[in-house]
Amino acid sequence: MAEFALPQNSKVQKGKTIDAANGATRKKTFKVYRWDPDDDRNPRMDEYTIDLDKCGPMVLDALLHIKNDIDQTLTLRRSCREGICGSCAMNIGSGKGTNTLACTQAIDEFKGDITVRPLPHMPVVKDLVPDLNHVYAQYTSIEPWLKTDSPAPNRERLQSEEDSTVLNGSDGNGPAACILCFCCSTSCPSYWWNADRFLGPAILLQAYRWIADSRDEATGERLDQLEDPFRLYRCHTIMNCTNTCPKGLNPAKAIAEIKKLMAVRR
Ligand code: SF4
Ligand code: SF4
Ligand code: FES
Repeated sequence: MAEFALPQNSKVQKGKTIDAANGATRKKTFKVYRWDPDDDRNPRMDEYTIDLDKCGPMVLDALLHIKNDIDQTLTLRRSCREGICGSCAMNIGSGKGTNTLACTQAIDEFKGDITVRPLPHMPVVKDLVPDLNHVYAQYTSIEPWLKTDSPAPNRERLQSEEDSTVLNGSDGNGPAACILCFCCSTSCPSYWWNADRFLGPAILLQAYRWIADSRDEATGERLDQLEDPFRLYRCHTIMNCTNTCPKGLNPAKAIAEIKKLMAVRR
């Protein structure tokens, strides 16, 4: 029988333990994935016990406290700290983690230690930073800009309220609200195994955002580009994407809408 085992150099090992919570009444331990491409060592989980009175209430606040005051070698991405830029997406949880935004994930939602890992199934640049080159190349492939043949008007192209609701959603959670954090794509089993050819939920939601835009005049061309057994049809409606989205969006529904449009035009 075939035996499967991870190569020795991919096994995550126990790393250092730092207790920086001297005399604290509110302590929390963060187990953080660490990997440095510049040394030959395996990835490891470092443990930091911190004083929660020395940082804000969100997981990103704790990680920045660790980086700024305890261990400056920790590497992570972040920008807005308000759930807008999508750059602090990572896998966070007590035990089994969820893909979410560190800046909007409250620390006190977890009872025990908190484990923080980079988004799963993406190459790692360093520590908590995933390599997004491939997914951004996929984003480029759907040509995410307004495409028109008609002459440009001498003012902005208007939309009815009804048409703009298709993009924005009646609750503000339509496809135009996507922040490209990729929590959804990295929770999708089909994307884990076929990321080379399947576009994944984040990019398909973006594709739908332009297909559904009443001002765009390239719908047929956009559907042609997705008509492929892998690019679109590797979605098997497992719904992890929608369950994971930290912005409350519904990429699975957007994918279903594209499939419907494909069926109608046949
Ligand atoms: S619904 Fe489709 S895109 Fe979403 S997680 Fe499932 S397979 Fe992936
Ligand atoms: S659909 Fe949600 S989870 Fe996916 S990239 Fe957009 S905001 Fe992030
Ligand atoms: S830092 Fe921008 S979404 Fe978290």
